[in-house]
Amino acid sequence: MKIGIIGQGYVGLTISAFASEIFEVIGFDNNEKIVHQLNLGSSHIEGVESSVLQKAIQLGRYQATSNGNDISNVDIVVIAVPTPLTPDRKPDLTYIDAACRTIGENIRHPILVINESTSFPGTLRNYIKPAIEKYSNIPVEHMYAISPERVDPGRGDFNQKNTPRLYSGLTPEASAQTQVFYSKFCDNLVEVSSPEVAEAAKLFENTFRQVNIALVNEFAQIAHSLGISVYETLDAANTKPYGFMKFTPSAGVGGHCIPVDPTYLAEVAEEHGAPATFIRRANVVNLEMSKYVVDRVQADNGGSLNGKSVLVVGVAYKPNVADVRETAAELVIEHLRSRGAIVSWHDEVVGIWKGVKSAPLAEVDIIVVVTFHDSVVASELLATAPYVFDTTGRVIGAHGF
Ligand SMILES: NC(=O)c1ccc[n+]([C@@H]2O[C@H](COP(=O)([O-])OP(=O)(O)OC[C@H]3O[C@@H](n4cnc5c(N)ncnc54)[C@H](O)[C@@H]3O)[C@@H](O)[C@H]2O)c1
Repeated sequence: MKIGIIGQGYVGLTISAFASEIFEVIGFDNNEKIVHQLNLGSSHIEGVESSVLQKAIQLGRYQATSNGNDISNVDIVVIAVPTPLTPDRKPDLTYIDAACRTIGENIRHPILVINESTSFPGTLRNYIKPAIEKYSNIPVEHMYAISPERVDPGRGDFNQKNTPRLYSGLTPEASAQTQVFYSKFCDNLVEVSSPEVAEAAKLFENTFRQVNIALVNEFAQIAHSLGISVYETLDAANTKPYGFMKFTPSAGVGGHCIPVDPTYLAEVAEEHGAPATFIRRANVVNLEMSKYVVDRVQADNGGSLNGKSVLVVGVAYKPNVADVRETAAELVIEHLRSRGAIVSWHDEVVGIWKGVKSAPLAEVDIIVVVTFHDSVVASELLATAPYVFDTTGRVIGAHGF
């Protein structure tokens, strides 16, 4: 079987790597630079080794392309394109629409179309299917299914093989074909009764994380005002063997999923007249954590940051990845600069961000740790600045929540 995978980013390339062990995979991406690099056997995604890609290329089981015609004879297409928010924080389906156009214009025989991009319930049935039909200039009866992606880039213990995967087709035949496809490289497939359940489950998983992160971020502020350690209190609560799950405070949430997916759920809830109060509030609490952190830093430094040199350590949204999408570091830097601080950043995993290179660890007045990669050495941070505020709980001896 030949598989076309639209989008060769975190999700699409990860699926390509697993699927190319069994199938012939055509990775379609409209970013020609990425395509060129992939065809040279060089991976740009944590968790996908270049050696895996090189082996698949040598065996003739992987090829990247920006030419839609190259996917014209595939048996299955997987959609793995971004689903961000518009500037006014509404679901942005323009990438999905472009992927549907690529499918509609290039594939003229019936295939199975599987969506892995995260979106609101009803996207497969009411958006993807009609869009592909609109862009096909001849009538083609494709099968449609959803299997929301759960990959956690940079994670070693859970991957495509051992993470249970939800799926559902628009028809029983689409469900059955989807099961056959994923069962080749995933051990645990969970069929649900409709695509809408699968789509909603994915959004709810990330909403659960966003709400609980907001709760612990609010609790960090409460604990500080009460003069007790938030970390000791959380560890104490975590001794309860049931009914509690530990989340830890942070400068906010980042990445393509947790700050974004819950808003997809809130939008669709409100469109249907249902409340989304927790979701909306959690988003605000998490966004405001960057201001709270900078307020604390300012209060500890004589009430003014004007003219102070500040190094923000860790600008990736989470440890050990180079992904800076929606990173809380951006808001922390904005708040610091708006108060007159002279801000630089250090993150050797990210390397270059917004055209600027990671600054070396050199003497500054203040360090604010937003993300702590494994390669960072806590004692070096403490030796670099007289004042270190750590939002990660990893720098023992620093100021923090
Ligand atoms: N990153 C994650 O950890 C994660 C986890 C689960 C689900 N998801 C979801 O998966 C989807 C993809 O996310 P991602 O993190 O892989 O995004 P990404 O930005 O890493 O990759 C998307 C890729 O799609 C390409 N692209 C954009 N439009 C295209 C088009 N019209 N045709 C072909 N290629 C196109 C981009 O060039 C990019 O390489 C999103 O819906 C996201 O919410 C992401």
